[in-house]
Amino acid sequence: MTDVTRSGARGKVLWHLTMSLDGFIAGPDHAMDWMSGVTLSPGLFEEAVSTTGAILAGRRGYDAWARENPGRASERAYGGAWSGPIFVLTHHPEDAVPDSGVTFLNCDVAEAVETGLAAAAGKNLEIFGADIARQCVVRGLIDEFYVHLVPVMLGEGIRLFDCPGIEPVRWERIHDGDPVQAVDLRYRPATGELPSNRGG
Ligand SMILES: NC(=O)c1ccc[n+]([C@@H]2O[C@H](COP(=O)([O-])OP(=O)(O)OC[C@H]3O[C@@H](n4cnc5c(N)ncnc54)[C@H](OP(=O)(O)O)[C@@H]3O)[C@@H](O)[C@H]2O)c1
Repeated sequence: MTDVTRSGARGKVLWHLTMSLDGFIAGPDHAMDWMSGVTLSPGLFEEAVSTTGAILAGRRGYDAWARENPGRASERAYGGAWSGPIFVLTHHPEDAVPDSGVTFLNCDVAEAVETGLAAAAGKNLEIFGADIARQCVVRGLIDEFYVHLVPVMLGEGIRLFDCPGIEPVRWERIHDGDPVQAVDLRYRPATGELPSNRGG
């Protein structure tokens, strides 16, 4: 992962996620176990940890996270390797599981992004999940979309981008080649066990 920090005082609004081949970012009931055992590109995890200044997430993802780590969800970001301010958007903060590392916001998504960017202090604000990210895409608030494809098909779960009726949203690929060239990927059915490496 290169160039994720922007020069100057303001970091990027980075929608950073891992996705299944069939376009899901979580399985049924927010399952994330499909990522385990998948290898990441060398240095990617470490760079994400060092360039992220704050995280903005939504309440559904937070609730799933808090179910597994009640009161300590913030300590588990990036497997516990990252610490920093986490903001969670919700219309009813009063019934959220409290967490000392999490600030609950009930405001417009653009205001939440500004709050997160200020807290990130020049590093990136990472947008977690699909719902908040969809709102950010529609409002033109995302600076960069960074996706890691996991070679698995889930069939159901939370889609990357569910936004019926919208015009196509176009992106340019950040690399040295043609920014609008399609990416070609070839797979075959997997055989054998997954290696027990760290997932995303
Ligand atoms: N694959 C990956 O890399 C990755 C990374 C991070 C997370 N995830 C997964 O992504 C999933 C996220 O779920 P999701 O995208 O369906 O939902 P979400 O973004 O986590 O949460 C949506 C909720 O946030 C609240 N909300 C949204 N916009 C708001 C606004 N403008 N003001 C106030 N509150 C607002 C609402 O909750 P209220 O009902 O409280 O108002 C809404 O129901 C989780 O399963 C998580 O584990 C995946």
